Amino acid sequence: MRKIIIDTDTGSDDAVAIVMALRDPNVEVVALTTVAGNVDLEKATKNALISIDYAESYSPPVYAGSKKPMIRELETASQVHGEDGMGDLGTLREPKDRAEEKHAVNAIIDILKNSDKGEIELITIGPLTNIALALIKDSVSMNRLKGITIMGGAHPYNNPHSVSSEFNIMADPDAAYIVFNSGIPITLVTLEACQGDAVLNADDIEHMRKLGEIGSFCIDCNMTAIKAAEDSGKEPFIELPDPIAYAVWARPDIVTVSFKSFTRIERKSPLVYGATLFEYEKDFMIEAHVDKSKTFNSKVVTSIDSEKFKSFLFELVKK
Ligand code: BDR
Ligand code: CA
Repeated sequence: MRKIIIDTDTGSDDAVAIVMALRDPNVEVVALTTVAGNVDLEKATKNALISIDYAESYSPPVYAGSKKPMIRELETASQVHGEDGMGDLGTLREPKDRAEEKHAVNAIIDILKNSDKGEIELITIGPLTNIALALIKDSVSMNRLKGITIMGGAHPYNNPHSVSSEFNIMADPDAAYIVFNSGIPITLVTLEACQGDAVLNADDIEHMRKLGEIGSFCIDCNMTAIKAAEDSGKEPFIELPDPIAYAVWARPDIVTVSFKSFTRIERKSPLVYGATLFEYEKDFMIEAHVDKSKTFNSKVVTSIDSEKFKSFLFELVKK
């Protein structure tokens, strides 16, 4: 049984990733840790607890973590996720449980201290604040992680906040910088892997609803995105970056394009902070730029098999 911690800024697509992980028979979610990002920390934590209830599986402990990025101010993303982060439905049940008292950063460190080296893996689907703070506090314990799968990064990409960055890296680039320099093996699932055929189209949305209450929950909490598409005259669709990051970790056979990279994070430019810069092996060889200290710090995933991803999703949410 593979064991994971999921670090999440629970908004709508995080909720779907949490449901998938909790319903995956091959996986034990050891803890959910929350971070401010898509929504503030209080809402992210409440939404993680709600997602656990709707998954109708087991209840891992939830630990609340960082209320804001390391240096920058918090920017949320209600235009994508809704004011409450879950599609502003007004119909979701209140969570049955509460978060634990312990801070997420201490919880991550303690779990790793009490595990065998390589026993636990980490999936991050929000800004990397908690992970960077845990690395600063106890890098020895953090290096017991087998690896980190990160939903984040993009080739040039426009989002409502920045001209060239993906939200999770942009929200806390200083934290991302620390994580990418940690030496822990990273798999980076970029936005490109989550677009095109990988989005849920109108037929997929209808199919998810037919699969039962859990499938309907996964669609309902993404209503803000569905309405935004409809308001702009498009067919409804939902992008699912966080579920795809989970699927890449759980089912690496869905990856169709990936490359090894020395990935660097831009932190300072007002226009492009949070940009991910990918250097391939061939770049190391350019005479004028030979830098012997460079080494791969990540595997970057830019495309997946959409059909395999969707079958995996449908199988897990089916009731
Ligand atoms: C990422 O940011 C959030 O909007 C999603 O939950 C995902 O983690 C995509 O850029
Ligand atoms: Ca997220």
